[in-house]
Amino acid sequence: MFVLLNFLAVLAFILMLTVPALTEGNVTCSGTAMDWYTSQVGETACKTYERLRQICNSDFEVGVMSNTFPPDTCDEQISDCCCNSIAYALAMLCLNCQQNIGGGSGYDAPAGDYQLYLQGSRINSTCSPVQNQTLSTSIQTAVCNEEIKLFDSLYSLFWTDGSWYYMYTEQSISKAIASNNNNTFTHCASTTLNGTSTSSSGSSSSASSNLTSSHSSNLSGGAIGGIVVGAIVGVVATALLMWFCWWKRKEGRKATKPENKIEPFAQGEGRDRRGNYSTEVQAKSR
Ligand SMILES: *[C@@H]1O[C@H](CO)[C@@H](O)[C@H](O)[C@H]1NC(C)=O
Ligand SMILES: *[C@@H]1O[C@H](CO)[C@@H](O)[C@H](O)[C@H]1NC(C)=O
Ligand SMILES: *[C@@H]1O[C@H](CO)[C@@H](O)[C@H](O)[C@H]1NC(C)=O
Ligand SMILES: *[C@@H]1O[C@H](CO)[C@@H](O)[C@H](O)[C@H]1NC(C)=O
Ligand SMILES: *[C@@H]1O[C@H](CO)[C@@H](O)[C@H](O)[C@H]1NC(C)=O
Ligand SMILES: *[C@@H]1O[C@H](CO)[C@@H](O)[C@H](O)[C@H]1NC(C)=O
Repeated sequence: MFVLLNFLAVLAFILMLTVPALTEGNVTCSGTAMDWYTSQVGETACKTYERLRQICNSDFEVGVMSNTFPPDTCDEQISDCCCNSIAYALAMLCLNCQQNIGGGSGYDAPAGDYQLYLQGSRINSTCSPVQNQTLSTSIQTAVCNEEIKLFDSLYSLFWTDGSWYYMYTEQSISKAIASNNNNTFTHCASTTLNGTSTSSSGSSSSASSNLTSSHSSNLSGGAIGGIVVGAIVGVVATALLMWFCWWKRKEGRKATKPENKIEPFAQGEGRDRRGNYSTEVQAKSR
């Protein structure tokens, strides 16, 4: 019995580990090439992109970014979250994250790609209003409330012909990180590091340091959900096992009754099971 119990415990543990991996899926990078992003932000570019778009559509999930351009489209009816150059840049970074080719020259986008992203499945029109190099006030507020870290460089970098360049983006961000002492998320007070200003920055920095540690944790929402599911499965499996043990023991006690001893063991057990089953059914139907 203990062997079986151990086996089930191990099974539950494995489930706890694999379920998060399955639910993470498309937001994980397939390699280490974009660790420069993940180590600073505390999540992958795909996760940032997903969180940004979930402000407008809580059901949004990152799919597999297309490597025949555009990587994704802004097809939402409430399109404020994706109808901007920042969301587009995140989609391109997500493509590089999923493909793990950021280590080489990465995926660049040809001229006109940004416009295709904005157009989506619309005919002769784009989402509107288009926000280049900025977010609408309400989305920016939501980003700060949700403590979504958007590099300052994602606001400033822009190619008016609608192209996009991985190496240029990565190197610009790396340079900004180095020259600003990691203080590269300054569009929100909640993500701005302790700066040069007075008491107000002190309080905001203590809030942001708490936030940084919680965000750099490797467990994202999906992982936590997976662990919860795994734990529930484990508890249910243990409960089932305990019930099974109890039932088995009850069976064992019955088998020692004199009437059963007359018949061969295997037969007796089979009959007894059937008998037990029918009494259960009777009890239920009463
Ligand atoms: C990844 O995205 C594809 C669609 O692009 C979807 O079919 C798949 O279920 C997603 N995987 C996960 C784990 O969400
Ligand atoms: C799209 O634009 C083209 C050229 O401006 C025009 O000929 C065509 O009729 C438009 N299509 C629709 C569905 O509006
Ligand atoms: C945003 O940029 C695109 C690509 O350069 C351009 O076509 C569009 O007119 C711009 N929109 C605004 C509102 O600046
Ligand atoms: C910047 O961030 C990196 C990695 O997160 C860290 O190792 C480094 O100490 C930080 N530098 C400063 C000045 O905070
Ligand atoms: C904030 O900056 C001030 C002055 O630079 C410094 O004395 C203080 O320790 C900093 N606080 C934190 C939490 O880094
Ligand atoms: C942030 O951390 C400080 C000390 O580390 C603590 O006093 C404060 O309650 C924390 N704030 C939140 C919101 O967790």
